[in-house]
Amino acid sequence: MEKKKIYLLNGPNLNRLGVREPGTYGTGTLEDVVRLVTETAQKAGFEVEAYQSNHEGDLVDWIHQAEGMADGIIINPAAYTHTSVALRDAVSSVSLPVIEIHISNVHAREAFRHTSMLAPVTAGQIVGFGIDGYRLAVEGLIQKLN
Ligand code: DQA
Repeated sequence: MEKKKIYLLNGPNLNRLGVREPGTYGTGTLEDVVRLVTETAQKAGFEVEAYQSNHEGDLVDWIHQAEGMADGIIINPAAYTHTSVALRDAVSSVSLPVIEIHISNVHAREAFRHTSMLAPVTAGQIVGFGIDGYRLAVEGLIQKLN
């Protein structure tokens, strides 16, 4: 591996950031998220490779792909957080630190959002700071890596 790298993975409906329920998710777009993560990571000498998909299997594939390609993963699994054994098993299958991030405070929302299938197998979770949570996720991941 040449340069230090972070994989940024965003799950279903996050391509709609900015127009999607702005009262819950704010008005920042996915492009803003990628810029924020890239700029924060670059300051610490990390490159970022960013992917978004509405399909569970794509996210599984990118988690697998990250091993050997990246030093760590930041993932907002979106709705799959609450349902996906496949994503949890994918995280368990790699030896990279994975940080889970949610824009909204999922614990203050519907009961079905209170459970994360992934959280027990991640290195940490950031919740409820809006898109600034992605910046915190980068800083937390880099601290764990150093
Ligand atoms: C989310 C929270 C999830 O419950 C929801 O399904 C999302 C976004 C968040 O970032 O707050 O799509 O992951």
